[in-house]
Amino acid sequence: MLILSDIQSYYGAAHVLQGVSLNVGRGEIVGLLGRNGMGKTTTIRSIMNLRAPEVRSGEVSYNGTKLNGLPPHEIAKRRIALVPQGRRLFASLSVTEHLTMLKPPNTRHGWTLERAFQTFPRLAERRRHRGNQLSGGERQMLAVARALMLDPEVMLMDEPSEGLAPVMVQHLETVIAGLRSEGMGILLVEQNLYSALTLCDRIYLIETGRIAYHGSTANLRANPEILERYLGVH
Ligand SMILES: Nc1ncnc2c1ncn2[C@@H]1O[C@H](COP(=O)(O)OP(=O)(O)O)[C@@H](O)[C@H]1O
Ligand SMILES: [Mg+2]
Repeated sequence: MLILSDIQSYYGAAHVLQGVSLNVGRGEIVGLLGRNGMGKTTTIRSIMNLRAPEVRSGEVSYNGTKLNGLPPHEIAKRRIALVPQGRRLFASLSVTEHLTMLKPPNTRHGWTLERAFQTFPRLAERRRHRGNQLSGGERQMLAVARALMLDPEVMLMDEPSEGLAPVMVQHLETVIAGLRSEGMGILLVEQNLYSALTLCDRIYLIETGRIAYHGSTANLRANPEILERYLGVH
């Protein structure tokens, strides 16, 4: 349903994405892995049409509709939500305010504050705390919960487990797997290879702005030399 075709993105004169093509369907978790600086965040920002980078050619489409050129809030309205790297919270807003500020009106089903708090009990305990009073792990949970409150069909997650304690990584994996079973499509940028190999149905490996490999997770498990080549791991 989400399709990127030959995306070329630039930061000024720097040609960073040099023809990225990938797709994410309903009810699947698709991994986008690669070393630092290879273009994972740039790919996600290109989908959301954030500035920068500038997408100079190629097409992003969702359910057959072209997204290129739409402002990020219009893309979010089409139920594509972003969990950004770095988490971008508001220091002075409470947990509850973060979760309710973007909630589309007249949503009859889907994510409620109650469900968000059930999913992330730690956020319920901290509901009156402000963004700048939360731990790194709590901020990450809040960034995920905030994206879910938009009732997305597709979620773009940029290193959601970065810096989390192992028990929180496991909790997040359970949440993400549960979203897939409800039919959500997830593009997961993940530096925790074990999480990625556990969660993903398919994986793309990106190297200097190009997709260097694409295949099933089972195929990657069976061919560890591919992971070694593109990620430098054993
Ligand atoms: N705002 C920016 N301005 C200029 N260059 C950038 C900017 N953001 C990222 N880059 C460059 O683009 C390349 C890809 O970065 P990024 O997509 O953030 O990599 P990744 O997420 O895979 O670590 C890197 O060479 C990085 O230095
Ligand atoms: Mg990144």
